[in-house]
Amino acid sequence: MQSFHIAVIAGDGVGVEVIPPAKRVLEKIGTLHQIQFAFEDFDWGSDYYVRHGLMMPAGAIELLRPFDAILLGAVGHPAIPDHITLNGLLLPIRRAFDQYANARPARLYPGVESPLALRKGEQIDLVVVRENTEGEYAQVGGFVYQDQPEEVAIQTAVFTRRGIERIVRFAFELARRRKSKKRVTSITKSNAQGFGMVLWDRTFATVAEEFPEISTESLLVDAAAMNFIRRPESFDVVVGSNLFGDILSDISAIIVGSMGLAPSANIDPLRRYPSMFEPVHGSAPDIAGKSMVNPLATILSAGMMLDHLQCTEAAQRVERAVAAVLAEGRARTPDLGGKSSTGEVTDAVLGKI
Ligand code: NAD
Ligand code: IPM
Ligand code: MN
Repeated sequence: MQSFHIAVIAGDGVGVEVIPPAKRVLEKIGTLHQIQFAFEDFDWGSDYYVRHGLMMPAGAIELLRPFDAILLGAVGHPAIPDHITLNGLLLPIRRAFDQYANARPARLYPGVESPLALRKGEQIDLVVVRENTEGEYAQVGGFVYQDQPEEVAIQTAVFTRRGIERIVRFAFELARRRKSKKRVTSITKSNAQGFGMVLWDRTFATVAEEFPEISTESLLVDAAAMNFIRRPESFDVVVGSNLFGDILSDISAIIVGSMGLAPSANIDPLRRYPSMFEPVHGSAPDIAGKSMVNPLATILSAGMMLDHLQCTEAAQRVERAVAAVLAEGRARTPDLGGKSSTGEVTDAVLGKI
């Protein structure tokens, strides 16, 4: 019997609705694969902020450190500015645990309709690998003459050779493991951003030399956004900076059917710290509390957690169960054109497991 300590932060909005399904799936999988999960729930987030003036307590990072992994729902509340909630919880965890690789797979499952008109036989099966600790999200900057007419805001992107090298290498190693095209596409905007993005392009070219069996492509982010729509089937592993990876992974989510299907893994590949698993989507206040949120993105994220914990068969079983539910098409939340509730979709997945 294997056993794992999992820290659970459901967070805000639909976060509290998608976490129980993921836990139920993990518990069921655990009984079949002799894995025991000890979940510890942390009530951090926007309600906690209203009570305590902080999104999470001062010692939160130390509390999380000993866990094997973190499962997170979503963060963000319409009544509190997003830069406070996200810089108070999600982003500091990614940085504190050096979760520098954010893997966001997007696969068009059989039975799910893409909003794109694909040619017959074409598949979408790509992974956006997002640099997750620096770049445009480095939080370096400030305001001068705040609230005055002459106010100045400075926001500095930070690109380091080490930071770029390690994320690019992660992307190539992932491409090597994947069955598909063995191709890595690098995304920058080095025609306009002449320093950080130029360092990225140069570093990409250098690391690529270590992987002669992997084909490469470099795209400017505007052209990449267009090509995600025009030729999504051509992509395999796509590596980009923090901001570009964020934006492209919303596109990759919707072209395979829904934000409600997009999982993600914030990984410390060196396994020094707990990695964190969460859906790509946010707290979706427009549908929160209505039992209509699609739980599959979070269930697939839990599957990615199993994979990271080296429970490979259990991880595959989760993905197979989700694929079977989607292929059958009976249990579907409204984002996929169905009428089922969050609970009904969860029950369907448990049934397939
Ligand atoms: P969002 O991802 O929450 O929602 C975008 C749209 O997709 C909405 O129409 C929503 O209803 C729909 N949607 C998202 N997930 C869905 C699901 N599982 N099932 C069905 N429909 C789903 O993005 P937003 O509206 O821009 O952001 C809302 C809040 O969440 C903001 O406060 C934002 O900062 C925050 N946010 C947090 C995270 C995170 O915690 N990782 C990610 C993105 C946004
Ligand atoms: C995501 C989210 C976050 C990000 C926000 C909420 C800060 O959009 O995980 O994709 O940009 O990283
Ligand atoms: Mn995002």
